[in-house]
Amino acid sequence: MKVLVIGGGAREHALCRSLSLDPAVSALYCAPGNAGIADVATLRPVDALDGAAVATLATELAADLVVVGPEAPLVAGVADAVRAAGIPVFGPSAEAAQLEGSKAFAKDVMAAAGVPTARSYVCTTPDEVDEALDAFGAPYVVKDDGLAAGKGVVVTDDLAAARAHALACDRVVIEEYLDGPEVSLFAITDGVTVVPLQPAQDFKRALDGDAGPNTGGMGAYSPLPWADPKLVDEVMELVLQPTVDELRRRGTPFSGLLYAGLAITGRGTRVIEFNARFGDPETQVVLARLRTPLAGVLLNAANGTLDALPPLVWRDDAAVTVVIASHNYPETPRTGDPIEGLLEVAAEDEPDAYVLHAGTRREGNTVVSAGGRVLSVTATGSDLAQARAKAYKAVARIRLDGSQHRTDIAAKAAEGR
Ligand code: AMP
Ligand code: GLY
Repeated sequence: MKVLVIGGGAREHALCRSLSLDPAVSALYCAPGNAGIADVATLRPVDALDGAAVATLATELAADLVVVGPEAPLVAGVADAVRAAGIPVFGPSAEAAQLEGSKAFAKDVMAAAGVPTARSYVCTTPDEVDEALDAFGAPYVVKDDGLAAGKGVVVTDDLAAARAHALACDRVVIEEYLDGPEVSLFAITDGVTVVPLQPAQDFKRALDGDAGPNTGGMGAYSPLPWADPKLVDEVMELVLQPTVDELRRRGTPFSGLLYAGLAITGRGTRVIEFNARFGDPETQVVLARLRTPLAGVLLNAANGTLDALPPLVWRDDAAVTVVIASHNYPETPRTGDPIEGLLEVAAEDEPDAYVLHAGTRREGNTVVSAGGRVLSVTATGSDLAQARAKAYKAVARIRLDGSQHRTDIAAKAAEGR
């Protein structure tokens, strides 16, 4: 099977790593990729947002499967263009990807499907904004309706800041604050059958102790020893299957990866958000634990034959990933700094710990930073404490001027807190 992966972050590196280990995959391409993905896949340049260009590339490569990683190409209709060219694609249509592309659309689907989520108002005028902020009170949760690369959501006790963010958006969703630990649960679906993966937890804030600004995600771990063992069954029944059924009923079936961002509140599990693709950095830890070869799973979803897939097999191991971000991330990240220590990790720590590249590019013989999140250092171990120790040992070998990382990824969970 020839597989083409679209994207070039740590999530795509994790996908390509798993696909490269799958004996069913005879050729693996990634477009545009990054310096690390080049070790496991053949890179091709492409504008990932240009559906026609991606479809042409897939045809040229005689790809049997295209996997679209990030949300922006999905919302732009790249999966539709590839499908129209007659090539199986893992990733939803533009219409179904509105589940991530519009928070208001997601709320509408959840209401219709009876999926538990925060109460909310969709506001387009200053009066509506003031009414909604007043109705819910602090802490205020204000979400830009559209895609904002992790920067659209403001959660604050400061009324003026909440109001300012709301007024800067064309259309905004203002909602009830949900208190409780967050869980990311992914499911693979072909629009009918839903196959849940293992839950993970992401660390969204930039600094230790969940301080600092929201980011794309600074680290993750799986499994969640503190979670109710019935969580996955419960979310399947209350959230994932009803959402997939509702989108099919509307004539816009969702096939690909349905990502439920959940809050485990005192009053039950609630959906914080949906995404229409694998999460980053959670994918790094979830795929590290998946034993079933990945290509067949994704192809079955793309072909609408997930009901024929045998149950997924998981490792007993735990996995932890720690994101190394550039100087000044998330505000105005500095790029172009050389990264050292990658070969030491490869020589000393693999296969237990390895480096997945996010924003990197090759300049001659060196790899340099090329984005806000630069590397995702991933490790597996017999439990979270061991996986964590291995991940941080590898992190310590990496040298990137001005870089930052959290030191408390999975710390509480590893200590049984
Ligand atoms: P989102 O982009 O919707 O995932 O939001 C980013 C982050 O904001 C989430 O991971 C939560 O930490 C926080 N957040 C979003 N919605 C809520 C909410 N209703 N209550 C509390 N925190 C929220
Ligand atoms: N880890 C958060 C996201 O992928 O949106």
